[in-house]
Amino acid sequence: MTQILPAGLSASAVVAASSANLGPGFDSLGLALGLYDEIIVETADSGLVVQVEGEGAGQVSLGPDHLVVQGIRRGLQAAGVAAPGLVVRCRNVVPHSRGLGSSAAAVVGGLAAVNGLVAQVDTTPLTEMELIQLASEFEGHPDNAAAAVLGGAVVSWTDGSRTPPAYGAVPLRLHPDIHLFPAIPEQRSSTAETRVLLPAQVSHHDARFNVSRAALLVVALTQRPDLLLAATEDLLHQPQRAAALPASTEYLQLLRRYGIAAVLSGAGPAVIALSTAAALPDEVVEYGAAKGFTVREMTVGDGVRWSSGVVVPS
Ligand code: HSE
Repeated sequence: MTQILPAGLSASAVVAASSANLGPGFDSLGLALGLYDEIIVETADSGLVVQVEGEGAGQVSLGPDHLVVQGIRRGLQAAGVAAPGLVVRCRNVVPHSRGLGSSAAAVVGGLAAVNGLVAQVDTTPLTEMELIQLASEFEGHPDNAAAAVLGGAVVSWTDGSRTPPAYGAVPLRLHPDIHLFPAIPEQRSSTAETRVLLPAQVSHHDARFNVSRAALLVVALTQRPDLLLAATEDLLHQPQRAAALPASTEYLQLLRRYGIAAVLSGAGPAVIALSTAAALPDEVVEYGAAKGFTVREMTVGDGVRWSSGVVVPS
């Protein structure tokens, strides 16, 4: 029988941005970035109140279709509990529609906040793998969700022979010499719109090209950062998305001409450079700024954290 949560419980979650694909690892490789959204949820006797501060304020829905609310509802259902009413507060920092995993952060944050609620009524919290499964079902791919749940760099995969697909993920130990430089444009893009640009079939040549680069990228990320440039080549999604993202494509090609391992962040339009240098060349950063990209170093992100009752300090 479904347990009804009493009014007045509160919980919070802090969840990172993420960069998916990393070039050749389409729908598989991901990396959490040190940029965090915070979600605070309280149970109530009835109704739904959603408040959004920061990114998306005044733009996103404040109703039941809000992604954080959907994540909370799905998490409550999976935990076998229900809440007649909810008050949800979102303090958003992760930019929307840039390829930085804001939707995965919203869903993972909502799901994880549920753990903070159910821990107060002696119900077993959802495990990391359950969070990844449920969030990936929303997303349709596990790369951002796995990075947001586990933090750091991840390899994730999909078993599409099941309904719903089963998702798995393992963390990678990111080499400490690797610095991350996201280049975030003012321009926005929707993942759905650039996913439909991808062909249903690819050639054996392109498949084996990407298999070798993705395998090499796991080595480069963990042991051999000197191989990052070769390991971040891709034929499966970046060329197909290039026409829709001309400024991003031009900037990542410029970075690569400088010998810097740059890729689209997820479906773009953000670009991310991975480098063993502590800074990018000034002229590269200035060129990006002139084209509308904010380029700065970012730390690798932690996995999602949740807590009961007390609000996580911002
Ligand atoms: N793997 C997904 C895609 C990531 O490239 O469509 C979206 O952030």
